[in-house]
Amino acid sequence: KKVVLAYSGGLDTSVIIPWLKENYDNCEVIAVAADVGQGKELDGLKEKAIKTGASKLYIEDLKSEFVDDFVFPTLKAGAVYENKYLLGTSFARPVIAKRIVEIAKAEGADAIAHGCTGKGNDQVRFELTIKAFAPDMAIIAPWRTWELKSREDEIEYAAKHDIPIPVTKETNYSKDKNLWHLSHEGLDLEDPANEPQLDKILEMGVSPMKAPDKATYVTLGFEKGVPVSLDGVKMDGVTLIEKLNEIGGANGIGIVDLLENRLVGMKSRGVYETPGGAILYAAHEVLETLCLDKETFHYKQQVALKFADLVYNGQWYTPLREALSAFVDDTQKTVTGEVKLKLYKGNIITSSATSPYSLYSEEMATFGEDDVYDQMDSQGFINLFGLPIKVKAMLENKKK
Ligand code: ARG
Ligand code: SIN
Repeated sequence: KKVVLAYSGGLDTSVIIPWLKENYDNCEVIAVAADVGQGKELDGLKEKAIKTGASKLYIEDLKSEFVDDFVFPTLKAGAVYENKYLLGTSFARPVIAKRIVEIAKAEGADAIAHGCTGKGNDQVRFELTIKAFAPDMAIIAPWRTWELKSREDEIEYAAKHDIPIPVTKETNYSKDKNLWHLSHEGLDLEDPANEPQLDKILEMGVSPMKAPDKATYVTLGFEKGVPVSLDGVKMDGVTLIEKLNEIGGANGIGIVDLLENRLVGMKSRGVYETPGGAILYAAHEVLETLCLDKETFHYKQQVALKFADLVYNGQWYTPLREALSAFVDDTQKTVTGEVKLKLYKGNIITSSATSPYSLYSEEMATFGEDDVYDQMDSQGFINLFGLPIKVKAMLENKKK
Protein backbone atom coordinates (compact mmCIF):
# COMPACT_ATOMS: atom_id res chain seq x y z
CA LYS A 1 0.00 0.00 0.00
CA LYS A 2 1.22 3.43 -0.96
CA VAL A 3 -0.16 6.81 0.09
CA VAL A 4 0.91 10.16 -1.36
CA LEU A 5 0.58 12.98 1.19
CA ALA A 6 0.26 16.71 0.52
CA TYR A 7 3.01 17.76 2.92
CA SER A 8 3.93 21.11 4.44
CA GLY A 9 6.20 20.10 7.32
CA GLY A 10 3.92 21.65 9.92
CA LEU A 11 2.57 19.83 12.96
CA ASP A 12 -0.50 18.42 11.20
CA THR A 13 1.18 16.83 8.24
CA SER A 14 4.06 15.62 10.44
CA VAL A 15 1.68 13.70 12.68
CA ILE A 16 -0.31 12.42 9.72
CA ILE A 17 2.66 10.37 8.48
CA PRO A 18 2.91 8.00 11.49
CA TRP A 19 -0.87 8.02 11.82
CA LEU A 20 -1.26 6.80 8.23
CA LYS A 21 1.28 4.02 8.82
CA GLU A 22 -0.49 2.93 11.98
CA ASN A 23 -3.96 2.99 10.49
CA TYR A 24 -3.30 1.78 6.96
CA ASP A 25 -1.30 -1.40 7.39
CA ASN A 26 2.12 0.17 7.73
CA CYS A 27 1.72 1.72 4.29
CA GLU A 28 4.50 3.55 2.49
CA VAL A 29 4.02 7.33 2.75
CA ILE A 30 5.39 9.52 -0.01
CA ALA A 31 5.40 13.19 0.93
CA VAL A 32 4.95 15.93 -1.66
CA ALA A 33 5.74 19.56 -0.88
CA ALA A 34 4.69 22.07 -3.49
CA ASP A 35 6.70 25.27 -3.80
CA VAL A 36 4.20 27.98 -4.62
CA GLY A 37 6.48 30.66 -3.24
CA GLN A 38 6.13 30.15 0.52
CA GLY A 39 9.86 30.76 0.90
CA LYS A 40 11.59 29.78 4.15
CA GLU A 41 8.92 27.23 5.05
CA LEU A 42 10.64 24.79 2.68
CA ASP A 43 14.00 24.78 4.48
CA GLY A 44 15.06 21.44 5.99
CA LEU A 45 11.87 19.82 4.79
CA LYS A 46 13.43 16.66 3.37
CA GLU A 47 15.14 15.71 6.63
CA LYS A 48 11.93 16.40 8.52
CA ALA A 49 9.81 14.26 6.23
CA ILE A 50 12.16 11.26 6.40
CA LYS A 51 12.55 11.57 10.19
CA THR A 52 8.79 11.44 10.68
CA GLY A 53 8.58 8.29 8.55
CA ALA A 54 8.07 9.25 4.91
CA SER A 55 9.91 7.07 2.40
CA LYS A 56 10.73 10.10 0.29
CA LEU A 57 9.91 13.73 -0.31
CA TYR A 58 9.18 15.41 -3.60
CA ILE A 59 9.69 19.17 -3.67
CA GLU A 60 7.91 20.54 -6.70
CA ASP A 61 8.58 24.04 -7.97
CA LEU A 62 5.16 25.21 -9.15
CA LYS A 63 5.77 28.95 -8.97
CA SER A 64 5.64 29.78 -12.68
CA GLU A 65 2.71 27.49 -13.33
CA PHE A 66 0.91 29.01 -10.36
CA VAL A 67 1.40 32.54 -11.65
CA ASP A 68 0.86 31.97 -15.38
CA ASP A 69 -2.01 29.49 -15.25
CA PHE A 70 -3.90 30.50 -12.10
CA VAL A 71 -2.97 33.94 -10.74
CA PHE A 72 -2.91 35.87 -14.03
CA PRO A 73 -6.10 34.32 -15.47
CA THR A 74 -7.89 35.29 -12.25
CA LEU A 75 -6.38 38.79 -12.36
CA LYS A 76 -7.52 39.18 -15.98
CA ALA A 77 -11.03 38.20 -14.89
CA GLY A 78 -10.88 40.83 -12.14
CA ALA A 79 -12.23 38.19 -9.77
CA VAL A 80 -12.48 39.19 -6.11
CA TYR A 81 -14.37 37.16 -3.49
CA GLU A 82 -16.88 39.10 -1.42
CA ASN A 83 -15.49 42.45 -2.58
CA LYS A 84 -12.15 42.00 -0.88
CA TYR A 85 -10.39 38.64 -0.98
CA LEU A 86 -7.90 38.20 -3.82
CA LEU A 87 -8.19 34.40 -3.61
CA GLY A 88 -4.58 33.68 -2.64
CA THR A 89 -5.20 30.34 -0.97
CA SER A 90 -8.07 29.37 -3.21
CA PHE A 91 -6.20 29.10 -6.51
CA ALA A 92 -3.09 27.59 -4.96
CA ARG A 93 -5.00 24.42 -4.12
CA PRO A 94 -5.79 23.24 -7.66
CA VAL A 95 -2.21 23.72 -8.89
CA ILE A 96 -0.88 21.72 -5.92
CA ALA A 97 -3.50 18.98 -6.12
CA LYS A 98 -3.00 18.54 -9.86
CA ARG A 99 0.72 17.86 -9.38
CA ILE A 100 0.04 15.50 -6.47
CA VAL A 101 -2.27 13.47 -8.69
CA GLU A 102 0.46 13.25 -11.34
CA ILE A 103 2.93 11.98 -8.74
CA ALA A 104 0.40 9.57 -7.23
CA LYS A 105 -0.22 8.10 -10.68
CA ALA A 106 3.49 7.83 -11.50
CA GLU A 107 4.12 6.15 -8.13
CA GLY A 108 1.19 3.78 -8.55
CA ALA A 109 -0.24 5.02 -5.25
CA ASP A 110 -3.48 3.70 -3.78
CA ALA A 111 -4.57 6.92 -2.10
CA ILE A 112 -3.90 10.62 -1.64
CA ALA A 113 -3.95 12.13 1.85
CA HIS A 114 -4.17 15.78 2.94
CA GLY A 115 -4.09 17.69 6.22
CA CYS A 116 -7.09 19.98 5.71
CA THR A 117 -9.73 20.09 8.42
CA GLY A 118 -13.31 19.04 7.81
CA LYS A 119 -14.48 22.59 8.50
CA GLY A 120 -12.71 24.49 5.77
CA ASN A 121 -12.63 25.33 2.08
CA ASP A 122 -9.28 23.76 1.37
CA GLN A 123 -10.49 20.16 1.67
CA VAL A 124 -13.06 20.91 -1.04
CA ARG A 125 -10.53 22.55 -3.36
CA PHE A 126 -8.05 19.69 -3.02
CA GLU A 127 -10.60 16.98 -3.48
CA LEU A 128 -12.48 18.52 -6.42
CA THR A 129 -9.17 18.75 -8.27
CA ILE A 130 -8.28 15.15 -7.39
CA LYS A 131 -11.67 14.04 -8.68
CA ALA A 132 -11.11 15.97 -11.92
CA PHE A 133 -7.87 14.14 -12.70
CA ALA A 134 -8.20 10.82 -10.87
CA PRO A 135 -11.92 10.11 -10.40
CA ASP A 136 -11.28 6.74 -8.77
CA MET A 137 -8.46 7.75 -6.44
CA ALA A 138 -9.10 7.07 -2.74
CA ILE A 139 -8.78 10.17 -0.55
CA ILE A 140 -7.73 10.13 3.10
CA ALA A 141 -8.54 13.19 5.20
CA PRO A 142 -7.39 12.29 8.74
CA TRP A 143 -8.83 15.44 10.33
CA ARG A 144 -12.34 14.22 9.50
CA THR A 145 -11.87 10.82 11.12
CA TRP A 146 -9.09 10.68 13.64
CA GLU A 147 -9.33 10.83 17.39
CA LEU A 148 -6.90 13.76 17.71
CA LYS A 149 -9.09 16.74 18.53
CA SER A 150 -6.52 19.38 19.34
CA ARG A 151 -2.96 20.46 18.93
CA GLU A 152 -2.19 19.01 22.37
CA ASP A 153 -3.54 15.62 21.24
CA GLU A 154 -1.28 15.78 18.20
CA ILE A 155 1.80 16.58 20.26
CA GLU A 156 0.99 13.74 22.66
CA TYR A 157 0.47 11.34 19.76
CA ALA A 158 3.83 12.28 18.29
CA ALA A 159 5.58 11.80 21.63
CA LYS A 160 3.99 8.37 22.09
CA HIS A 161 5.17 7.34 18.64
CA ASP A 162 8.64 8.75 19.08
CA ILE A 163 8.13 11.15 16.24
CA PRO A 164 10.19 14.33 16.22
CA ILE A 165 7.84 17.22 15.51
CA PRO A 166 8.23 20.95 15.08
CA VAL A 167 6.72 21.89 18.44
CA THR A 168 6.20 25.54 18.96
CA LYS A 169 3.91 27.22 21.43
CA GLU A 170 0.44 27.88 20.10
CA THR A 171 0.84 31.58 19.51
CA ASN A 172 0.57 31.25 15.78
CA TYR A 173 -2.36 32.07 13.59
CA SER A 174 -3.47 29.51 11.05
CA LYS A 175 -1.47 30.81 8.12
CA ASP A 176 -1.20 30.02 4.46
CA LYS A 177 1.63 31.59 2.51
CA ASN A 178 2.52 31.68 -1.14
CA LEU A 179 3.91 34.09 -3.69
CA TRP A 180 0.58 35.92 -3.98
CA HIS A 181 -0.49 36.24 -0.37
CA LEU A 182 -0.35 35.38 3.30
CA SER A 183 -3.53 34.60 5.23
CA HIS A 184 -4.08 34.69 8.98
CA GLU A 185 -7.02 33.06 10.77
CA GLY A 186 -7.78 31.95 14.32
CA LEU A 187 -6.83 33.10 17.85
CA ASP A 188 -8.08 36.63 18.65
CA LEU A 189 -9.28 37.10 15.06
CA GLU A 190 -12.04 34.56 15.71
CA ASP A 191 -14.00 37.29 17.52
CA PRO A 192 -15.01 39.99 15.02
CA ALA A 193 -15.23 42.40 17.96
CA ASN A 194 -11.43 42.34 18.19
CA GLU A 195 -9.41 44.74 16.10
CA PRO A 196 -6.60 42.87 14.32
CA GLN A 197 -3.24 43.58 15.98
CA LEU A 198 -1.65 44.42 12.63
CA ASP A 199 1.80 45.10 14.02
CA LYS A 200 1.91 41.56 15.42
CA ILE A 201 0.24 39.91 12.44
CA LEU A 202 1.86 41.42 9.36
CA GLU A 203 4.82 39.67 7.75
CA MET A 204 4.84 40.88 4.16
CA GLY A 205 4.97 44.56 5.03
CA VAL A 206 3.97 47.27 7.45
CA SER A 207 0.62 48.74 8.42
CA PRO A 208 -0.42 51.99 6.69
CA MET A 209 0.25 53.78 9.98
CA LYS A 210 3.91 52.72 9.85
CA ALA A 211 4.39 53.37 6.13
CA PRO A 212 6.63 56.23 4.97
CA ASP A 213 5.29 59.79 4.66
CA LYS A 214 6.55 59.91 1.09
CA ALA A 215 4.72 58.33 -1.87
CA THR A 216 6.29 55.69 -4.12
CA TYR A 217 5.51 55.54 -7.85
CA VAL A 218 5.28 52.31 -9.84
CA THR A 219 4.63 51.88 -13.55
CA LEU A 220 3.18 48.60 -14.74
CA GLY A 221 3.15 47.41 -18.32
CA PHE A 222 0.48 44.97 -19.56
CA GLU A 223 0.16 42.92 -22.71
CA LYS A 224 -3.28 41.47 -23.40
CA GLY A 225 -4.18 41.86 -19.74
CA VAL A 226 -1.02 40.16 -18.45
CA PRO A 227 1.51 42.19 -16.45
CA VAL A 228 4.86 42.09 -18.24
CA SER A 229 6.96 44.96 -16.93
CA LEU A 230 7.71 47.05 -13.87
CA ASP A 231 9.08 50.58 -14.25
CA GLY A 232 9.89 49.89 -17.87
CA VAL A 233 11.84 46.69 -17.18
CA LYS A 234 10.44 43.48 -18.71
CA MET A 235 10.29 40.56 -16.31
CA ASP A 236 8.59 37.22 -15.74
CA GLY A 237 5.49 37.02 -13.58
CA VAL A 238 7.15 35.44 -10.56
CA THR A 239 9.86 38.11 -10.36
CA LEU A 240 7.36 40.88 -10.95
CA ILE A 241 5.12 39.74 -8.09
CA GLU A 242 8.12 39.34 -5.76
CA LYS A 243 9.25 42.88 -6.49
CA LEU A 244 5.75 44.34 -6.14
CA ASN A 245 5.30 42.55 -2.81
CA GLU A 246 8.37 44.37 -1.52
CA ILE A 247 7.26 47.78 -2.76
CA GLY A 248 3.62 47.31 -1.77
CA GLY A 249 4.49 45.83 1.62
CA ALA A 250 6.72 48.77 2.47
CA ASN A 251 3.82 51.17 1.74
CA GLY A 252 1.16 49.32 3.74
CA ILE A 253 -0.69 48.21 0.59
CA GLY A 254 -3.05 45.25 0.25
CA ILE A 255 -4.08 44.51 3.83
CA VAL A 256 -7.59 43.10 4.07
CA ASP A 257 -9.66 42.24 7.12
CA LEU A 258 -12.61 40.14 5.98
CA LEU A 259 -15.46 38.26 7.59
CA GLU A 260 -16.16 35.81 4.79
CA ASN A 261 -18.67 33.09 3.97
CA ARG A 262 -16.98 29.73 3.65
CA LEU A 263 -18.31 27.19 1.17
CA VAL A 264 -19.05 24.78 4.01
CA GLY A 265 -21.51 27.20 5.57
CA MET A 266 -19.91 29.03 8.45
CA LYS A 267 -18.57 32.56 8.49
CA SER A 268 -14.90 32.98 9.28
CA ARG A 269 -12.68 35.97 9.83
CA GLY A 270 -9.30 36.40 8.19
CA VAL A 271 -6.61 38.96 7.65
CA TYR A 272 -4.93 38.82 4.26
CA GLU A 273 -1.73 40.39 3.00
CA THR A 274 -1.63 40.74 -0.79
CA PRO A 275 0.62 43.75 -1.43
CA GLY A 276 1.69 43.00 -4.99
CA GLY A 277 -1.68 41.57 -5.91
CA ALA A 278 -3.56 44.67 -4.79
CA ILE A 279 -1.34 46.83 -7.00
CA LEU A 280 -1.78 44.55 -10.00
CA TYR A 281 -5.58 44.46 -9.63
CA ALA A 282 -5.70 48.25 -9.39
CA ALA A 283 -3.45 48.79 -12.40
CA HIS A 284 -5.26 46.21 -14.52
CA GLU A 285 -8.61 47.81 -13.80
CA VAL A 286 -7.36 51.28 -14.69
CA LEU A 287 -6.12 49.96 -18.02
CA GLU A 288 -9.47 48.30 -18.70
CA THR A 289 -11.30 51.58 -18.10
CA LEU A 290 -9.25 52.98 -20.95
CA CYS A 291 -9.31 50.01 -23.36
CA LEU A 292 -12.65 48.26 -22.97
CA ASP A 293 -15.92 49.47 -24.42
CA LYS A 294 -18.71 50.11 -21.95
CA GLU A 295 -20.82 47.01 -22.69
CA THR A 296 -17.87 44.63 -22.46
CA PHE A 297 -16.57 46.28 -19.29
CA HIS A 298 -19.96 46.08 -17.58
CA TYR A 299 -20.61 42.50 -18.68
CA LYS A 300 -17.16 41.50 -17.48
CA GLN A 301 -18.05 42.78 -14.01
CA GLN A 302 -20.82 40.18 -13.86
CA VAL A 303 -18.45 37.49 -15.05
CA ALA A 304 -15.93 38.47 -12.37
CA LEU A 305 -18.42 37.74 -9.60
CA LYS A 306 -19.10 34.23 -10.87
CA PHE A 307 -15.44 33.62 -11.61
CA ALA A 308 -14.53 34.50 -8.02
CA ASP A 309 -17.12 32.07 -6.65
CA LEU A 310 -15.81 29.29 -8.86
CA VAL A 311 -12.22 29.89 -7.75
CA TYR A 312 -13.17 30.21 -4.09
CA ASN A 313 -15.24 27.04 -4.23
CA GLY A 314 -12.46 24.98 -5.80
CA GLN A 315 -14.22 24.63 -9.15
CA TRP A 316 -11.17 25.55 -11.22
CA TYR A 317 -11.28 22.47 -13.41
CA THR A 318 -14.84 22.86 -14.61
CA PRO A 319 -16.38 23.62 -18.01
CA LEU A 320 -17.83 26.91 -16.73
CA ARG A 321 -14.54 28.26 -15.38
CA GLU A 322 -12.84 27.34 -18.65
CA ALA A 323 -15.59 28.96 -20.72
CA LEU A 324 -15.46 32.14 -18.63
CA SER A 325 -11.69 32.23 -19.08
CA ALA A 326 -12.18 32.00 -22.85
CA PHE A 327 -14.53 35.00 -22.67
CA VAL A 328 -12.12 36.93 -20.47
CA ASP A 329 -9.17 36.23 -22.76
CA ASP A 330 -11.14 37.56 -25.71
CA THR A 331 -11.82 40.81 -23.86
CA GLN A 332 -8.12 41.20 -23.08
CA LYS A 333 -6.98 41.45 -26.72
CA THR A 334 -6.71 45.22 -26.38
CA VAL A 335 -5.75 45.48 -22.71
CA THR A 336 -2.20 46.52 -23.50
CA GLY A 337 -0.46 49.59 -22.20
CA GLU A 338 1.05 51.23 -19.14
CA VAL A 339 -0.38 52.40 -15.86
CA LYS A 340 1.43 54.58 -13.35
CA LEU A 341 0.29 54.42 -9.74
CA LYS A 342 1.21 56.26 -6.59
CA LEU A 343 1.45 54.21 -3.39
CA TYR A 344 0.94 56.06 -0.15
CA LYS A 345 0.15 54.68 3.32
CA GLY A 346 -2.03 51.81 2.14
CA ASN A 347 -3.60 53.80 -0.71
CA ILE A 348 -3.25 53.12 -4.39
CA ILE A 349 -3.76 56.37 -6.29
CA THR A 350 -3.98 56.47 -10.08
CA SER A 351 -1.40 58.71 -11.64
CA SER A 352 -1.70 58.07 -15.40
CA ALA A 353 -2.53 55.50 -18.06
CA THR A 354 -1.63 55.09 -21.72
CA SER A 355 -2.50 52.51 -24.35
CA PRO A 356 -2.25 52.15 -28.12
CA TYR A 357 -5.81 50.73 -27.90
CA SER A 358 -7.26 53.54 -25.82
CA LEU A 359 -10.93 54.19 -26.62
CA TYR A 360 -10.83 57.54 -24.90
CA SER A 361 -11.37 60.52 -27.16
CA GLU A 362 -10.44 63.87 -25.75
CA GLU A 363 -12.21 65.53 -28.66
CA MET A 364 -15.49 63.84 -27.68
CA ALA A 365 -15.24 64.42 -23.95
CA THR A 366 -13.84 67.91 -23.84
CA PHE A 367 -15.67 70.75 -22.11
CA GLY A 368 -14.03 73.01 -24.67
CA GLU A 369 -15.14 73.53 -28.25
CA ASP A 370 -15.34 70.50 -30.55
CA ASP A 371 -16.66 69.63 -34.00
CA VAL A 372 -17.34 65.90 -33.65
CA TYR A 373 -20.25 65.85 -31.21
CA ASP A 374 -23.59 67.42 -32.04
CA GLN A 375 -25.20 68.50 -28.80
CA MET A 376 -28.59 68.65 -30.52
CA ASP A 377 -28.51 64.82 -30.86
CA SER A 378 -29.09 64.67 -27.12
CA GLN A 379 -32.54 66.18 -27.30
CA GLY A 380 -34.10 63.30 -29.25
CA PHE A 381 -32.08 60.78 -27.32
CA ILE A 382 -33.37 62.04 -23.99
CA ASN A 383 -36.96 62.16 -25.29
CA LEU A 384 -36.84 58.43 -26.15
CA PHE A 385 -34.71 57.36 -23.21
CA GLY A 386 -37.04 59.22 -20.85
CA LEU A 387 -40.27 58.08 -22.52
CA PRO A 388 -41.21 55.44 -19.89
CA ILE A 389 -40.64 57.94 -17.09
CA LYS A 390 -42.74 60.55 -18.86
CA VAL A 391 -45.60 58.13 -19.63
CA LYS A 392 -45.73 56.88 -16.06
CA ALA A 393 -45.88 60.40 -14.68
CA MET A 394 -48.62 61.38 -17.17
CA LEU A 395 -50.79 58.40 -16.19
CA GLU A 396 -50.31 59.12 -12.50
CA ASN A 397 -51.34 62.72 -13.03
CA LYS A 398 -54.50 61.59 -14.83
CA LYS A 399 -55.56 59.46 -11.84
CA LYS A 400 -55.41 62.43 -9.52
N1 ARG B 1 -10.14 31.68 4.12
C1 ARG B 1 -9.21 31.63 3.05
C2 ARG B 1 -9.72 30.72 1.96
O1 ARG B 1 -10.59 29.97 2.17
C3 ARG B 1 -7.83 31.22 3.54
C4 ARG B 1 -7.69 29.80 3.96
C5 ARG B 1 -6.35 29.54 4.57
N2 ARG B 1 -6.01 28.15 4.59
C6 ARG B 1 -5.20 27.60 5.48
N3 ARG B 1 -4.96 26.31 5.35
N4 ARG B 1 -4.67 28.26 6.47
O2 ARG B 1 -9.24 30.75 0.85
C1 SIN C 1 -8.61 24.23 6.99
O1 SIN C 1 -9.67 24.18 7.61
O2 SIN C 1 -7.99 23.21 6.64
C2 SIN C 1 -8.05 25.59 6.65
C3 SIN C 1 -9.06 26.63 6.41
C4 SIN C 1 -9.89 26.42 5.19
O3 SIN C 1 -9.69 25.44 4.47
O4 SIN C 1 -10.80 27.24 4.90
